[in-house]
Amino acid sequence: MDRVHDTRTADGAPAREVVWAPGGHRTVYAEAWLRAHLPGAPAAPGDGRTEDDTYLWDAAGIAGRFPEAGWGAYTAEPTVTAAALDSVMGLGFVLLRGVPVRDRQVLDVARTFGFVRETNYGELFEVRVEADPDNLAFTGARTTPHTDNPYRDPVPTLQLLPCLANAAQGGDSGLVDGFHAAALLRAGDPEAYEVLTRVPVPFAFSDGRTELRAHRRLIDTDPAGRIREIRFNNRSIGTLQQPAGVLDAFHAAYRRFGELLLRSELQLEFRLSPGDCPVFANTRLLHARTAFAESGDRHLQGAYADIDGLASTLAVLRRKEMPTGSTSGSAPR
Ligand code: FE2
Repeated sequence: MDRVHDTRTADGAPAREVVWAPGGHRTVYAEAWLRAHLPGAPAAPGDGRTEDDTYLWDAAGIAGRFPEAGWGAYTAEPTVTAAALDSVMGLGFVLLRGVPVRDRQVLDVARTFGFVRETNYGELFEVRVEADPDNLAFTGARTTPHTDNPYRDPVPTLQLLPCLANAAQGGDSGLVDGFHAAALLRAGDPEAYEVLTRVPVPFAFSDGRTELRAHRRLIDTDPAGRIREIRFNNRSIGTLQQPAGVLDAFHAAYRRFGELLLRSELQLEFRLSPGDCPVFANTRLLHARTAFAESGDRHLQGAYADIDGLASTLAVLRRKEMPTGSTSGSAPR
């Protein structure tokens, strides 16, 4: 830096101009911006992806604030759109209701806020009884709380799962806040938590034309140690190759976390009707399904997307709500 002097921004606000050395490049900083970014100033909002930026919930905690929006209002009113997307960022999900019940509609839902993540399953995947299933999702069996596709890197961070038919006995849906469960593990068994944030787990999937693998931790934290991503899927976890002591500690911790995730008080249960479309954070919430009678008609059509596109759409909507140029922060949740 060569020198600094007082000036004004283009719109007349007090500012400081810095002349950089070498080269004499000039930069104008508004004083308000400098005050907000002083060392020791209050911490800036995060990127909306860690436990600190979100409301952690259990079944009782979410009961009075179940996030839902009607399709008509969601697509027509930007404030309703923003509130729905804000729920995905803050609570990990929203339930859209009254979504048109038609083939491939899920792709149009994803495109209201972002981009479809195509995978080896295609642009979308079917969840219904199939004659020769290669995945539990295609049977009537119960599925315990899990995140999808931990064998991908990057893993899809959002899932959409609209219901086209649900006349079967059973087949109710469940969601568990994995951030909350991880925080409970940290409070109750810090050693187990530490193991799950450290030991890489080999996740894998293969079929006749695909072989996918990713070695990631069950609980991922950011550089400040805040919970940021959960991966949990006992159908795609591979065999760990670690020293015996690490294996013992990992399996004890894995069991503790698995038991926590099965606690009924953590699981929000609800039943999908045709036209319902849950949109949920696949690296935060775990989803589950009770068993259902395979003779009944049950059909969901799922797709993956990513939360950065959703966060961008929300930020642009907020920019219109707050024309002061602010592009970060959100209402308390
Ligand atoms: Fe799943």
